[in-house]
Amino acid sequence: MRITMVGTGYVGLVSGACFSEFGHDVICVDKDASKIARLENGEIPIFEPGLDALVESNAKAGRLSFTTDLAEAVPGSDAVFIAVGTPSRRGDGHADLQYVYAAAKEIGTLLEDYTVIVNKSTVPVGTGGEVEAIIRDVKPALEFDVASNPEFLREGSAIEDFMRPDRVVVGTSSERARDVLRRLYRPLSLRETPILFTERTTSELIKYAANSFLATKISFINEMADLCEAVGANVQEVAKGIGLDGRIGSKFLHAGPGYGGSCFPKDTLALLKTAEDTGMPLRIVNAVVDVNKMRKEALADRVKSMLDGSVSGKTVAVLGLTFKPNTDDMRDSPALDLIPALVNEGATVRACDPEGVEQARPMLPEITYCDDAYEAIDGADIVVLLTEWNAFRALDIPRIKSLLTAPKMLDLRNVYRADEMRDAGFTYQSIGRP
Ligand code: UDX
Repeated sequence: MRITMVGTGYVGLVSGACFSEFGHDVICVDKDASKIARLENGEIPIFEPGLDALVESNAKAGRLSFTTDLAEAVPGSDAVFIAVGTPSRRGDGHADLQYVYAAAKEIGTLLEDYTVIVNKSTVPVGTGGEVEAIIRDVKPALEFDVASNPEFLREGSAIEDFMRPDRVVVGTSSERARDVLRRLYRPLSLRETPILFTERTTSELIKYAANSFLATKISFINEMADLCEAVGANVQEVAKGIGLDGRIGSKFLHAGPGYGGSCFPKDTLALLKTAEDTGMPLRIVNAVVDVNKMRKEALADRVKSMLDGSVSGKTVAVLGLTFKPNTDDMRDSPALDLIPALVNEGATVRACDPEGVEQARPMLPEITYCDDAYEAIDGADIVVLLTEWNAFRALDIPRIKSLLTAPKMLDLRNVYRADEMRDAGFTYQSIGRP
């Protein structure tokens, strides 16, 4: 089958490459000519493990190509996916749909035969209807369908998530469109992946509900961690104790510095906006967002309390800048709350990150970037483990002790064991553990 993928951001590029790996012919389109030129040269604009090899092999096999010209791609496609960005609109938190609507209009002018237009961008409930109206407006006589097909890809394991998903959700009431989507995802039938067909608005809501629920689990366990600290309990054991209950499940119960990234912060806010607009307040999601915001704002205080109440004149080594490991993405990373707060209060920050430095530099210009953990720690008064990259999971503890002015560690991801760190002579604090 032939697919056009509009937008070569995270979702578009990963989905396009994976569909081509399934054996479909995929043309990825982006308005950004320099990005397309880089892709044509085999350069991948984002860091995602395995993506470069997938793009290279499928491009070589002739199943994956790139263009800036939508007119080269759309005619003859069985499905045209819209995978453009939907950033939070400045000021009100609504998802900004201008790129989705512009893509819909342009696609509409180019459609010749029956085609399914598929929304892969995360769009608020009702957007599919708008896209349909836009296309109907430009091509009143044409047969087409607009379906919703949300993605559930995690950065860092996006290819695995696409190739082995827990489920595929498709929102459309058209049997003809369902058939096209069924054929596109047929390679997954070998793994007996459930394909859930729903109405379009339901599918649109599933994406937001899924991300908001996962964010809820995280804020829940983070609050439990605070309570554990207050009563002397261990949040990892609490998470295990509740997670073994099949109704609860053990995933997304790791307490930490608060969630970040391109999805949870943006999607929870967009869902709240939709709720507000329809007069149906979502009190739980509201609390989830508040808890996460306050958590990130309080990170600097944890550092301060380990440095006798003041970071002024102190040097803080920060290990990890990205919002999670295996990505170069800095969007809504806890580092963006923690580090400016430390710098504002007079601290010197030395930081390192295996992939995130390039993205971090313009956002955090006031700090010293180091090549590795040991360089960052050299001469620091405390080490703060912020992102659980593999490179920080097995540090040489005697060595870092010798590099610090005093052996202090704040482990915001619970990577190390408290008893071992204390035995090594460290003043050690983690999240929700005695
Ligand atoms: C998420 C969803 O998982 C994915 O399905 C969706 O399509 C996009 O958003 P992603 O943002 O890439 O994916 O990362 P994820 O692994 O979900 O982590 C998000 C944030 O939650 C990170 O900041 C992470 O550190 C944090 N997190 C996650 C926790 O603090 N605790 C956990 O137990 C899990």
